[in-house]
Amino acid sequence: MCGIVGYWGPNEPKKVILSGLRRLEYRGYDSTGVAIFDQKELKVFRSPGKLVSLEEKIKNNHFSGPAGIGHTRWATHGEPNEKNAHPHKVDSIAIVHNGIIENYVQIRQKLIQEGAKLSSDTDSELVAHLLVKEIKKGSDILKATLNVIPQLHGAYSILVINEKEPDTLLAFKNGTPMLVGLGQKEVVIASDVQAIIEHTNKIVYLEDGEIVLSHKSDAQFFDIKGKKISKDIHEINWTTAMAEKAGFNHFMEKEIYEQPRALGQTMAEHIDHKTKHVVLKNLGLTDAELLNFNRIQLIACGSAWHAALCAKYFLESLAKIPCDIDIASEFRYRSPILEKTTLFVTVSQSGETADTLACLRFAKKAGLKILSICNVQHSSIDREANARIYTNAGPEIGVCSTKAFTAQIVALQLLALHLARVKNTLNGEQISDLVSGLLALPSQVEVCLNHDKWFKDAAQTLAKYKGFLYLGRGALYPIALEGALKLKEITYLHAEGFASGELKHGPIALVDKDMAIIAMCPKDELYEKNISNIEEVRARGGQIIAIGTEADEHLKNLSQYYLAIPKAISMANPILASIPVQLLSYHLACELNRDVDKPRNLAKSVTVE
Ligand code: AGP
Repeated sequence: MCGIVGYWGPNEPKKVILSGLRRLEYRGYDSTGVAIFDQKELKVFRSPGKLVSLEEKIKNNHFSGPAGIGHTRWATHGEPNEKNAHPHKVDSIAIVHNGIIENYVQIRQKLIQEGAKLSSDTDSELVAHLLVKEIKKGSDILKATLNVIPQLHGAYSILVINEKEPDTLLAFKNGTPMLVGLGQKEVVIASDVQAIIEHTNKIVYLEDGEIVLSHKSDAQFFDIKGKKISKDIHEINWTTAMAEKAGFNHFMEKEIYEQPRALGQTMAEHIDHKTKHVVLKNLGLTDAELLNFNRIQLIACGSAWHAALCAKYFLESLAKIPCDIDIASEFRYRSPILEKTTLFVTVSQSGETADTLACLRFAKKAGLKILSICNVQHSSIDREANARIYTNAGPEIGVCSTKAFTAQIVALQLLALHLARVKNTLNGEQISDLVSGLLALPSQVEVCLNHDKWFKDAAQTLAKYKGFLYLGRGALYPIALEGALKLKEITYLHAEGFASGELKHGPIALVDKDMAIIAMCPKDELYEKNISNIEEVRARGGQIIAIGTEADEHLKNLSQYYLAIPKAISMANPILASIPVQLLSYHLACELNRDVDKPRNLAKSVTVE
């Protein structure tokens, strides 16, 4: 989950690379570094900590260019210190790396036996040594790369610069992303579109095993055998403004507020506003193919897994199709039964999560059809799926998933309604009633955002609780899990989510007057059950923060704090209840002076298994 940027062109490489790293810092921020040409010399500067430390270090350095590479690191091998920071330079070769070289121990031992002098604890440095070894045998940089790739096992995106060839950049990848931006007279190579979009919107996506060799602004592409290949150039419709904070204090705050638009944009293209039916555009699966599936297997990680868990309630109740949900890092190791009559659905904001991508490949190899729910077009998962529904949430920069999470839920609800229509498990009127209810979501979310001020004012009081238990039933149970994850991720406080009915089977022992209980209790078919659970907790001194439907006096009287969500169809409640739990986490994190957009130990896209 590191950020990689490389540049060749007429602009000042230091400025371009630092700006690119700043846009990628959410991918990892343990340490940073650059290797940039100044006259004939390739100068390397590295620093532990966030990018701001490196910027300070080189603020008075001028680099003539024309090229350079940079890196912002999420440590996998070796502590996050200067010696382990990238770029790693060996002789004339400097490299930056995202991913993991899984056979690094064997490579390291062999290099040491051959007399290599290692200067770091990282797996990445070894790649530079392997390249130098090949170049010393007389290979040029492309041939050297072709000889090194077969020696590497694992997921990696590697960008190479050679002090002897100031106009040349080379990159190659396997598993983790690498994109090439083709400007008028410049080339930008990076791990994510955010670092490229301010220079060009013409982007080539490297596939696994492919190599890009750019000489000046002329980029050539090769396959793993060294054969020149042609590549599609995609025009990306993101703007840099979309990736900026737009006046908010944090990306997370902006993205919480972008949810009405993200939900609307995710639904818009799939709803026939005349019939109020869902017709998934460019799905990639015909109605006939959909009717052949008798089961759905959902796979995801983290918040995306919570969205998948929420979807199960709607896919089974509305489309009457059995659903299994697995955490991606567990799925492959439980000897799952894979049948071609199962639709394999991956849910991923980034489309680069290694565990989820590995499951996609595992299922695809067994002949299953893959449907991807993803927020990043042309990401690895999106490219390898057979079918897709995009969450049109725009770039999500905050490490904490907010707008992508609620957009994932609504995208999966659209799938449920599309299937219900195709399978005729709901009649036209039932579907249009539910669709009308979903179309009200953006304005209902706007109403929920009004709680922002309450949470800002209450944060100081709420921060005093020793822990936070989140309770929910039915499709709100995954929101209890999500709320707890949000709180843990950015406040570092203890939080756990439970199915409300589970509390009495043990966790209720945690409840006392210092424990805050976030109880989601909308006026749905489980309301009475939820009320009983709240009574159980209240009887033991638990401090109730209740989320209920509009003015629910009974629930209000049971609670220390009460937050209303608008009256809505039950399909809308998981999304509406997500807003207060997001705001609670955000304002508690601000109260505790946490780094909201870049919380410790985390990264936005987990591209290692
Ligand atoms: C959510 O707040 C976290 N950032 C994390 O759990 C995330 O949802 C998970 O890593 C999956 O990422 P993906 O959606 O990009 O696959």
